[in-house]
Amino acid sequence: MIIQKTENSRISTFDPNNFSFGNTFSDHMIICEYENGKWGDVKLVPYGPLLFTPAMMGVNYGQACFEGMKAYKDNDGQVFLFRPEKNFERINKSATRLAMPEVTEEMFLDGLKALVDIDRDWIPQGEGNSLYIRPLIFATEEALKARVANKYMFAIVATPAKMYYTEPVSVKISDHYSRAASGGVGSAKAAGNYAASFYPTQLAIDEGYDQIIWTDDATHEYFEESGTMNVFVRINDTIFTPPTSEKILDGVTRDSFIALAKKRGFEVKVEAIKVKDVVGAQKNGTLKEVWGVGTAVVTTVFQALGYNGEKLELPRLSDEESFAVTLKNDLVNLQTNLSEDPFGWRVLVDHALETV
Ligand SMILES: Cc1ncc(COP(=O)(O)O)c(C=O)c1O
Repeated sequence: MIIQKTENSRISTFDPNNFSFGNTFSDHMIICEYENGKWGDVKLVPYGPLLFTPAMMGVNYGQACFEGMKAYKDNDGQVFLFRPEKNFERINKSATRLAMPEVTEEMFLDGLKALVDIDRDWIPQGEGNSLYIRPLIFATEEALKARVANKYMFAIVATPAKMYYTEPVSVKISDHYSRAASGGVGSAKAAGNYAASFYPTQLAIDEGYDQIIWTDDATHEYFEESGTMNVFVRINDTIFTPPTSEKILDGVTRDSFIALAKKRGFEVKVEAIKVKDVVGAQKNGTLKEVWGVGTAVVTTVFQALGYNGEKLELPRLSDEESFAVTLKNDLVNLQTNLSEDPFGWRVLVDHALETV
């Protein structure tokens, strides 16, 4: 790895108690270029702009995919990644689906650890705080030709993140728009998936909702995901979540929630969730909770579901009664080294680069 440390660190301007998530970037970034059929050297360089023209294929034809993951600092200042191998596997799954070259485990994991190590001062300490990390691959070839590109960049950037205390939100069950289609790219973290979701989400916001529960494109009879999260439903004391498929992203948080729920002895059923059954359960009082999970917010609890022009209210449970909140706390405690790690999910980031 080629390391070029910044000579103008911005860390003295970073106030861990007052920053804007997603707009504040750490001092460094990882970049690596792909050309002539192979990846070049991985470089750790000062964070900053790169030079491309509007003819870059990535912005014209959408060959771009990304990951979202976090690094956490415990009370002693030790830094951990959470299940980074899952994101490594997933970025390559996304790259393959978009006909882009896979990255190597060395590029991905060593790049990640080097960036997090050198920029460890950018990780805010304290409950639920973290450094959000964005690895991405995009086509950089300058050519207006609708075909697979020959040049790519792999990059990793990072932005500090606070615990989100999201108020319970209202979600609209989609009856027309779809996030993913059979044979499509729903299970890839393709940049275009997000572009395609913004307009329907905006329409739902205009109707007074915060997000959309995406349903299947063919019938709109089955739950798939919620916003940019995987979805869970609790009927009585049983937790349901749809199986992953080519239309559903295989979320790391989803997988972790299932394992943590089983560990607590909760009944978890990974099976198709019918909109009709959820609506029926709301009407007969057995629907206890519906929530979304993902790396960024960990959990968002829903207070109402919009369906057929009706707003179906959900019970307001206390934190102790809520499976969603209980499992969120289990996960955050594990991620921040406040609890045991029976699954071996934490990966310590050592100080290899700090003195370079
Ligand atoms: C569409 C979609 N579903 C689910 C998730 C949750 O995945 P993870 O738990 O790996 O963050 C994400 C994002 O992060 C997403 O973009």
